[in-house]
Amino acid sequence: MSDEVLGLDEAYSVKTPDDNRRLYAKWAATYESSFVDAKQYRYPKAIAEVFNDVVGPVRRVLDIGTGTGLTGMYVTRLRPAVLIDGMDISPEMLAQAKLKTREDGSVVYRELYVRDLTRAVPNENAPYEALISSGTFTHGHLGPECLRNLLPLLAHDGWLVVGVNNEHFEAKAFAGELDSLVALGAIESPEILRVDVYEPGSVHYGDQARVIITRAIN
Ligand SMILES: C[S@@+](CC[C@H](N)C(=O)[O-])C[C@H]1O[C@@H](n2cnc3c(N)ncnc32)[C@H](O)[C@@H]1O
Repeated sequence: MSDEVLGLDEAYSVKTPDDNRRLYAKWAATYESSFVDAKQYRYPKAIAEVFNDVVGPVRRVLDIGTGTGLTGMYVTRLRPAVLIDGMDISPEMLAQAKLKTREDGSVVYRELYVRDLTRAVPNENAPYEALISSGTFTHGHLGPECLRNLLPLLAHDGWLVVGVNNEHFEAKAFAGELDSLVALGAIESPEILRVDVYEPGSVHYGDQARVIITRAIN
């Protein structure tokens, strides 16, 4: 398969962490040109805007499924004072994220960790005051059960701002998992927003994602 044909069909057909490693190893170098720019993908920007609107003053933030670092780039444009780390299963995607710079020329990310977030996550720099995620809770990537792996990374009252693919949200019963976490006393009752994933003019315009907004009670 050539890089040129990689896109949503391939991203939505992965099933395992190894599938994800293989897909994003091939896609990392062209992910932004062939997908983000070509399809006018605005999801990282939209999630950063929601984060900026709802999250109070925080300093230590973790980007879940960092990819090439677009979410961190937009967050630091809106909140230049944040320290942001990233985690992703793909070293090739993180190599791209490492190149992202802030408006003052410094790097966006303090630390980048190769982590499989379907498993319990070692937490060198935890606790974080907020977790943010765009595009990673989707078909064959991270399911609702992964939220439990992430909660130990958060400080008490720490924020979660997590984008979830609309169909994945329904198919994998995210609402049920959120209800369970609320019943366990692990999170506050969440607010669920919707954002446009693509700009007007994109062939995919109209596709929306849910955004889970809640706080940890750990
Ligand atoms: C569609 S990209 C989104 C990247 C970025 N957040 C964005 O919005 O542009 C999905 C990312 O999820 C990562 N990913 C997939 N499975 C993962 C796993 N099990 N653990 C950690 N990251 C994973 C991929 O490597 C990829 O970088």
